[in-house]
Amino acid sequence: MNDGRHEILVHRQEIARRTREIARGIDEVYSGEIPVLMPLLRGAFVFAADLARQVEVDVEVEFLGASSYGGATETSGEIRLTLDTSTPLSGRHVLIVEDIVDTGLTLAYIHKLIRSRGVASLRTAVLLDKRCRRKVEVDLDWVGFVIPDRFVFGYGLDGPGGLYRNLPDITALPAE
Ligand code: XMP
Ligand code: MG
Repeated sequence: MNDGRHEILVHRQEIARRTREIARGIDEVYSGEIPVLMPLLRGAFVFAADLARQVEVDVEVEFLGASSYGGATETSGEIRLTLDTSTPLSGRHVLIVEDIVDTGLTLAYIHKLIRSRGVASLRTAVLLDKRCRRKVEVDLDWVGFVIPDRFVFGYGLDGPGGLYRNLPDITALPAE
């Protein structure tokens, strides 16, 4: 990605600052509880790892893997679970951690699935919100950054060819 054509949309320092703020909110809401922090794989793995280390309340961690059928940049809304949780969620306070919400179809599906397991509460922290693309309403409790309709990658999100998840900043292809 050293072609000089890509653009940093959200710099790593900004991400770190916002992640700390979100963690303080999480500490406040879950005071006295032990929530289940649930990163959605694969894209949320970097954000969740940073967020988890900023949160001070005790948490358990359970991974959920989700992948949507469709092209590289557009979801079909048909979701496939690639990894399910390994402990019962009934009666638990679940905090979903997601990288990006676009149409909302993925998260709507996941919310329905997790709610069906009888959780005590369900909240969501998402790093990036492409709000202008929303097709279905989804409740978001913490949003890192609202971004324009640009294809982004880095900081866990995959870019062209499935690469660049390891870039430290949120990066975008040049605007058309
Ligand atoms: P929906 O439309 O279901 O999309 O809200 C959520 C999922 O779509 C992927 N997505 C992206 N992935 N750069 C990416 O690398 C993007 O700009 C982007 N927009 C959406 C992502 O997997 C997310 O979970
Ligand atoms: Mg993706």
